[in-house]
Amino acid sequence: DQHQQSSELLEGKKVLISAGPTKESVDPVRFFTNHSSGKMGFALAEEAANLGAEVTLVAGPVSLEITNKRVKRIDVVTAEEMYNVITDLFPSQDIVIKAAAVADYRPKNTYNEKMKKQTGDLTIEMERTKDILHSLGEKKEQQFLVGFAAETSSPIEYGIKKLENKNLDAIVINNVAAEGAGFGRDTNIVTYVNKNQEQKEVPIASKREIAKKIFTFINSDMKDES
Ligand code: CTP
Ligand code: CA
Repeated sequence: DQHQQSSELLEGKKVLISAGPTKESVDPVRFFTNHSSGKMGFALAEEAANLGAEVTLVAGPVSLEITNKRVKRIDVVTAEEMYNVITDLFPSQDIVIKAAAVADYRPKNTYNEKMKKQTGDLTIEMERTKDILHSLGEKKEQQFLVGFAAETSSPIEYGIKKLENKNLDAIVINNVAAEGAGFGRDTNIVTYVNKNQEQKEVPIASKREIAKKIFTFINSDMKDES
């Protein structure tokens, strides 16, 4: 199959990828999460390994398997766990891509016992999680740092704001409202924007094909920087 061809594009590079949602519990039976399937991040990990990289994949709770044995997979559940694992691995990496849909909020209290229903409505107090990507942007040295942005309106405008605010080298903007794009699908439509705000559109394609294009763009931007 076409994905089995080996290539030298990422030979010798250490690539860290995060994928999937995070899951934030409120009690032993209930949690908050989102619609991320992890497919885009897993496609990036498979493709990076295929291109010769040493890949670590930090995955939230997803029902996917990695086929390339050269991918080191670390499973996490919460945003806090993802933050800790990624922060530890970050210093030694060459390319870091945050495709995960990290929860922005988590329940302020997590109960050890199942919450019992009461008469009337329920309010659950939520607190902010750490912005993992923002903190990597502050620590960044040699790493080429790539974010994802999932937007339902004005995707390019909001995406470029994230690129600037989080000190990224590039952002992959995902219009989740577009036909053929977004959550759970095998295809996607993205726009890659680098820090010089050069935009590259990738029309509808499989997530694996999009992953390959993304690494071609990253490789060319890294060459321009060095
Ligand atoms: N991200 C992160 N840690 C968080 C939230 C987001 O690392 N706590 C990363 C995501 O992995 C993604 C990028 O930031 O690469 C953008 O995520 P997104 O949810 O689109 O943007 P936010 O900055 O969270 O803003 P908002 O959800 O309000 O659009
Ligand atoms: Ca968010």
